[in-house]
Amino acid sequence: MKGVILAGGLGTRLRPLTTVTNKHLLPVYDKPMIYYPLEALCRAGIRDIMIVTGGNSAGDFLRLLGNGRQFGLKDIYYTYQEGEGGIADALRLCEHFAEGQRICVILGDNILEDDIGPVVERFERQRSGARILLKAVRDPERFGVAVLDGERIVRIEEKPSVPPSPYAVTGVYLYDPRVFEIIRGLQPSGRGEFEITDVNNAYIATKELEYEILRGWWTDAGTFESLHLAATLVESRRKAPEVVTP
Ligand code: G1P
Repeated sequence: MKGVILAGGLGTRLRPLTTVTNKHLLPVYDKPMIYYPLEALCRAGIRDIMIVTGGNSAGDFLRLLGNGRQFGLKDIYYTYQEGEGGIADALRLCEHFAEGQRICVILGDNILEDDIGPVVERFERQRSGARILLKAVRDPERFGVAVLDGERIVRIEEKPSVPPSPYAVTGVYLYDPRVFEIIRGLQPSGRGEFEITDVNNAYIATKELEYEILRGWWTDAGTFESLHLAATLVESRRKAPEVVTP
């Protein structure tokens, strides 16, 4: 399976921090934000990784990450998203890179405690379709929100003013190669972007979207509050006492 990190956009919610640099290069405790999704993919055993950048400072990703040797990679693939077309539009740029394989996509501002290796393994055993990760949060209206009916996921609403459940759709998505066909059929949303939520709803329509609920903490880091929270969560993990097994 190949990995994709989406690290474009203008990061307008974090201005003036993002006036001259890219959101994903900002610090989260002791590392640049982009390190966290990159380490999450590497820890899951994914070795072929594409980073989609855009907006400000795209060249700085290359200076920071180089060919990925420090992460144990042979090289890293980069591409550039023009404009603000949304997450699904950024993913569209990875079709050639995917070469018909399955992909594990992470939004560059998502930081999670859990190892996603087991999720990747379960998706490898899934016959086809897609798999997403949910997390119950106190402010679901900031995210895509899943409507569940027992074991099934019925639909996802993007940033609803009245959230139908506490389950935010996190920015970790596993897709089969059909994702690119789905993206080609999308229409831009009200805010003029190609929405990842529309991609996931297309998989729901064909009953091919599986979900899991994350056990550990998760946050995005795209607002001042969540950027601060992300640093606090990472710090708490660093300081957590080592569990010593006899
Ligand atoms: C995006 C997605 C949203 C998802 C979130 C996770 O929102 O559109 O469905 O819940 O990422 O971080 P954004 O933060 O780009 O507005």
